[in-house]
Amino acid sequence: MTSKSPVRFKVFLWALIAAFGALFVFAQSDLSGYWVFKIPRGDGTFALSYFELKQSGDTITGNTVGGRGQNPISDGSFRNGKLHFAISFTGRGGQKGGAPQTFTTTYEGTLQGDKFALTMTGGRGGRGGRGPVTGDFERSKAEAAMPPAKLPLPALHDVRDNKLARTPPMGWNSWNKFAGTISDKDVRGIADAMVSSGMKKAGYIYVNIDDTWELGRDAKGNITTNTKFPNMKALADYVHSKGLKIGIYSGPGPTTCAGYEGSYGHEDQDAKTYASWGIDYLKYDWCSAATIYSDEDMQAVYQKMGDALLKSGRPILYSLCQYGRAKVWEWGAKVGGNAWRTTGDINDSWQSLDRIGFGTAVPGGIRKQGEPAPPGLTQFDIAKGATVGHWNDPDMLEIGNGHMTTDEYRTHFSLWCLLRAPLLAGNDLRDMSEDTKSILLNTDVIAIDQDPAGLPLNRVKEEGTTVIYSRPLKGGDIAVAMFNRGEQAAEMSVTWDALGVAGKKLQVRDLWKHAPVTATGDKYTASVPTHGVVMLRVTTK
Ligand code: GLA
Repeated sequence: MTSKSPVRFKVFLWALIAAFGALFVFAQSDLSGYWVFKIPRGDGTFALSYFELKQSGDTITGNTVGGRGQNPISDGSFRNGKLHFAISFTGRGGQKGGAPQTFTTTYEGTLQGDKFALTMTGGRGGRGGRGPVTGDFERSKAEAAMPPAKLPLPALHDVRDNKLARTPPMGWNSWNKFAGTISDKDVRGIADAMVSSGMKKAGYIYVNIDDTWELGRDAKGNITTNTKFPNMKALADYVHSKGLKIGIYSGPGPTTCAGYEGSYGHEDQDAKTYASWGIDYLKYDWCSAATIYSDEDMQAVYQKMGDALLKSGRPILYSLCQYGRAKVWEWGAKVGGNAWRTTGDINDSWQSLDRIGFGTAVPGGIRKQGEPAPPGLTQFDIAKGATVGHWNDPDMLEIGNGHMTTDEYRTHFSLWCLLRAPLLAGNDLRDMSEDTKSILLNTDVIAIDQDPAGLPLNRVKEEGTTVIYSRPLKGGDIAVAMFNRGEQAAEMSVTWDALGVAGKKLQVRDLWKHAPVTATGDKYTASVPTHGVVMLRVTTK
């Protein structure tokens, strides 16, 4: 060995280190793999969305991953620590029923250590839309991005009836007005207003917190609340102190519809937690369960929570929310359900109300692979599916939220009451106009909803955009409503013969005028305003 050898060796060693170093840096900056974008919601939780990136040179390709389908990345690059990419997807805008559109969301990020500060701009407007928002973009794993495994399904059995809701439940729910902003303070204010406005006296009892109260799970797997709800037990105590009851929301999937913690794998534990807090009502929403289970599994999945609620030892009203799929009215009572949604979400528009109330918005059954969806049904078609203690729920009320006319809101209330629907006000009870109060506090119409006989409605006559429904009440009275879905006022008549009371001595009361009307002759005729209703209570003497 010459004296030069150690020098050569050193050079070689340095070259080797440099080569490894370069490789290491390359590996560090190769973004290929799974990533999660964590957008802080301001309540201690994060909205998570997952991506799979592939890097080739400074080009980034890949796609979104997870529950809501895969959308490809376009225009992706990673240069000098700056990440850029875009996602385009087709969807509907803020309002349901709008034409599908293509939306593009752009992401721009700067590498900071091993993660990016990423800003998202654009995307869908309305509730699903955000922009620009910034969050951390971190490395993740396929397991985190993919839905978890399907849990074993219990054998079907009939869950014991909890004997609650012998008349349709009445109360309030946070979603329609407050969505993700609902807080402890608002719920307390609503409870106060429920009493001071006379709503409690009129029968509204449940104060229901919808989605977005959840945080995550503690070390023992117990569900925890986020910063909007510092102490759920204390809040329940407060609501109870007003002589009211309190409701909460969850679902059988890993996440709720708003992307918060769901009850997947914690059904018994969550039911016990709700009972320990003093919860009286659970709305249980399918949502991300759809990424794990099929519609055929729904009955078993809902039965699991029905059993868990009974086992909790506290009477908890069980409200199913799976948008009327899989003919829920045929099995909802068997899983212990006191009510089940019959359609997708309502919104504060005549179009939505008309479609849900009168149109074929109820799914006609399970859609088989490769086949068209079975024809939709109307609320009237499925009315007999509801029985005492087990009600069809065409969704919560929009009365007082400001985007329908007084006549339209009267139609909303009258129809829901004739259908024997749960009456869950969806407005801000602390701030109600006289018009809103006159509808929600119409005890004549509420009495139709709450009639103890709980019988289904009949269709007396349907012609074009006018329809007349009736319902026999306990003690022999009949409720009648003449609805005008058309764009002009309509003269509408109901014959006593069609109601089976021809030749009898009648007393007829107009339930919106709160006054008796003349019932001579063989029919009652009235001018019904556009999108409006005339509602009567017919008493035979
Ligand atoms: C679904 C339900 C709504 C509401 C939201 C909350 O869309 O149908 O009623 O509960 O989830 O995320």
